[in-house]
Amino acid sequence: MYGLNYRIPHSRQDSGQGKREEKSALKQGNQGTLMIQNNRIEQNDHSPSPLFHGIQKFSVQSSQSTSANHSKQSSISKPKQTQQMSFLNYLMLKKEDEEQDKQVTQHQQKQQSFQQNNYFTNDLQIQRNMFNFLYVIGVGGFGKVWKVEYKKTGQTYALKEMSKALIIAKKSVNSVMNEKNILSNLKHPYLVNIYYAFQERENLFLALDYMQGGDLRYHVGRMRRFSEDQTRFFMACIFLGLEYMHSQNIIHRDIKPENLVLDKNGYVRITDLGIARLLRPDNAQDTSGTPGYMAPEVMCRQNHSFSVDYFALGVIGYEFMLGRRPYTGRSRKEIRDQILAKQVQIKRSEIPDNWSLESADFINRLIQRKPSNRLGFNGAQELRQHTWFKNFPWQKLYNKELKAPFIPHQSEDNFDARQISIENEENTELIQQKAMMLRRNSIQTQFDGYDLNNFTQTSEPIKQQLNNINY
Ligand SMILES: Nc1ncnc2c1ncn2[C@@H]1O[C@H](COP(=O)(O)OP(=O)(O)O)[C@@H](O)[C@H]1O
Ligand SMILES: [Mg+2]
Repeated sequence: MYGLNYRIPHSRQDSGQGKREEKSALKQGNQGTLMIQNNRIEQNDHSPSPLFHGIQKFSVQSSQSTSANHSKQSSISKPKQTQQMSFLNYLMLKKEDEEQDKQVTQHQQKQQSFQQNNYFTNDLQIQRNMFNFLYVIGVGGFGKVWKVEYKKTGQTYALKEMSKALIIAKKSVNSVMNEKNILSNLKHPYLVNIYYAFQERENLFLALDYMQGGDLRYHVGRMRRFSEDQTRFFMACIFLGLEYMHSQNIIHRDIKPENLVLDKNGYVRITDLGIARLLRPDNAQDTSGTPGYMAPEVMCRQNHSFSVDYFALGVIGYEFMLGRRPYTGRSRKEIRDQILAKQVQIKRSEIPDNWSLESADFINRLIQRKPSNRLGFNGAQELRQHTWFKNFPWQKLYNKELKAPFIPHQSEDNFDARQISIENEENTELIQQKAMMLRRNSIQTQFDGYDLNNFTQTSEPIKQQLNNINY
């Protein structure tokens, strides 16, 4: 029913339908090119990857340890000189390892003292052992998302754990630093807000609002479609989050059901600002996103603005109404060809029973290929003023005083534990392969400044801070 959702290898993975489709497509041999691994395309850091050094070193070590383990056998067959060489090599590598350990310790001490003097963290340094890890509620491209309890206050958070090894391997250091920087400058009832950011040798952590109701990919997978009321409510929540982000000059760029999470009362919030960006005039080269939800101007590498998020919102509305997306395909190219071929619109005859004409008009105007024809191109008020939202109680929605038309299960888990475990296994395998590189000082320094434990105080205006990042 859906088309393949994919990303290039260095990008993050999202749980959910897209990945599942992609897996079955891959099984069927539909992978197209080697570039297709995940369902989000992300521009990566352009620095050369230190990964290769990691692999090299790892392979030297493993072959070394193999010969050490089998020294008895090899002493029978190998000349003595070779054995001596191996032992010398072993000693050298051991020394190198000790040297690296020393460097890492020094680096950690330096960082600790930096954090103690840092404006953000003079309160106390947040660490993993300050949380009770309850269970895993999601998996992203770099690791697990946990439900945790902050021991000191008893407060529940979602803790997003991201493996440094995976981040480096996927060349996404800028992306995770960017996510933390943007999040720490935003706060809104329709965004998943940040509370803490901290790190250890292997992982980065973000403590976020805990959303008990699961993500919309999980729910649309179960429900197939939503009702008009439910869809309008979801779209209104997402709109409030987007309106706020845009007012802060931020484009989200990856609005899709996996990144929209429900609280226990059925209110939706936007999460995953991994590829969000401060608006810049010349951004034609920023082509990150997920093809099925990606606006044509991004697909076609043109300059783009906030209305790319409204296009994605329209795709979501279409999907919730009809149970399929307007433009599907097994590859980015197939989806792009479809978008270029024709403007999809919901026809009168396709509108399901009990849905209004206004709903179809609203969605049709959002999925306009030409940005200047798209609702919201001239500002967020265009969405508010559309007849589908006539008399909509925006203020009550903002205050969360409405009864949501879709309430997630209160007792059951709102995620697919099996799917989570499959995706987690894939990550774990990769993490183990790349673990060695974390000993390097040059790797650890790339994460300097990640820590944050007082999100209400910002050291410099968001623009200035974000402009310091090289995309
Ligand atoms: N705050 C949260 N509360 C509950 N579940 C969450 C939260 N944040 C993320 N998740 C779940 O974890 C998944 C991965 O998180 P996400 O931030 O999207 O990671 P990635 O950036 O790697 O895609 C989401 O699709 C969602 O199912
Ligand atoms: Mg995501």
